[in-house]
Amino acid sequence: MNARKVIIDCDPGIDDALALMLALSSPELDVLGITITSGNVSADKGAKNALKILKWMDRTDIPVYLGERLPLVRDYVNAEDTHGEDGLGESGYDVPAERSYREGAVRYLADSLHHAASASEPLSIIALGPMTNLARLIKDYPDSLAGLGELVSMGGNYKSHGNCSPVAEYNYWCDPHAANLVYEAFETHPLLSDKQIHMIGLDVTRKIVLTPNILEYICQIDPSIGEIITKITRFYFDFHWKQEQVIGCVINDPLAVAYFIDRSLCHGFSAYTAVETEGLCMGQTVVDAFDFWKKKKNSIVLTETDAFRFMCFFISRICHTDPAALLPVLQQIFVPPADQRPLTPHPCPAPHGVPAPSAFCQPAAKEGLQP
Ligand code: BDR
Ligand code: CA
Repeated sequence: MNARKVIIDCDPGIDDALALMLALSSPELDVLGITITSGNVSADKGAKNALKILKWMDRTDIPVYLGERLPLVRDYVNAEDTHGEDGLGESGYDVPAERSYREGAVRYLADSLHHAASASEPLSIIALGPMTNLARLIKDYPDSLAGLGELVSMGGNYKSHGNCSPVAEYNYWCDPHAANLVYEAFETHPLLSDKQIHMIGLDVTRKIVLTPNILEYICQIDPSIGEIITKITRFYFDFHWKQEQVIGCVINDPLAVAYFIDRSLCHGFSAYTAVETEGLCMGQTVVDAFDFWKKKKNSIVLTETDAFRFMCFFISRICHTDPAALLPVLQQIFVPPADQRPLTPHPCPAPHGVPAPSAFCQPAAKEGLQP
């Protein structure tokens, strides 16, 4: 098999960790390197986390490059409330002593892309964090874009609500100027004239929920990978319960990796997209779905996903198991996304004299609280 060359630009991050685990378990990908940006945690912490993940996956041959420590313009706001102070759910894993990361992620991206261009072997980027490194790359090394294959970015939202403001998703909200610069480049840069950003936003990633039952199943199939995932997601589970009354956790980033490998996992449409950089709607993706502006369609906005197939794909890869063998149990325990669940027509009867809390009886009916 001809594995596709990729660099994963990320901010690990619990779901980044799961995405890296998926990528490193997938023979379709040749992961050349991991570049780190500040996002969920500072770039320094994120780089250390990448080293931990590579150690778990026995892939310490892959280099880790530390990139931009601050967003282009706005003040940096981390997501340690979601991912824990260490970025991996306060799981307490040690940073491997035997390996270190290097500085210079943007330069590394540029050199790798130049090399890809001269070897006529396009290099793709899967971006799982704020796009600060990519914006710097475009500003400082625009010629390197000749080597770019595809860009898949986890970020943004079309019809779904935001996850850090009513309208904005975290990666684009954290560095809206960078996100906007990258989208603009896919509109105007001559080397990107035939390319579009694949936007894996909250419309699709909210449907990907790692539930306690699925986690338990992973533990049964592969206890060692199960133990790692259990340790890093406990904090994330608690956050999701407090924040959104979700039992389990939404795992955004692995869907971007899965989609890069298998296009049939998500569907959407081409459109011009811009990212709002200021004010009330900072970080919001403005998707011109009806072509008001007659601009180049710089993005493919993914809006539909088959969450069951994704989960089967994800588990089979990280647990090295035949997907067909997973079906009987997965069919038993998989909970369809909120918009595909039947609504309970009436709240269940409350015990005598106790008003029924409808959120618990009718979870899909409470607007704005579902995954
Ligand atoms: C994105 O923000 C981060 O918290 C996650 O790692 C993911 O990349 C979801 O909005
Ligand atoms: Ca991320």
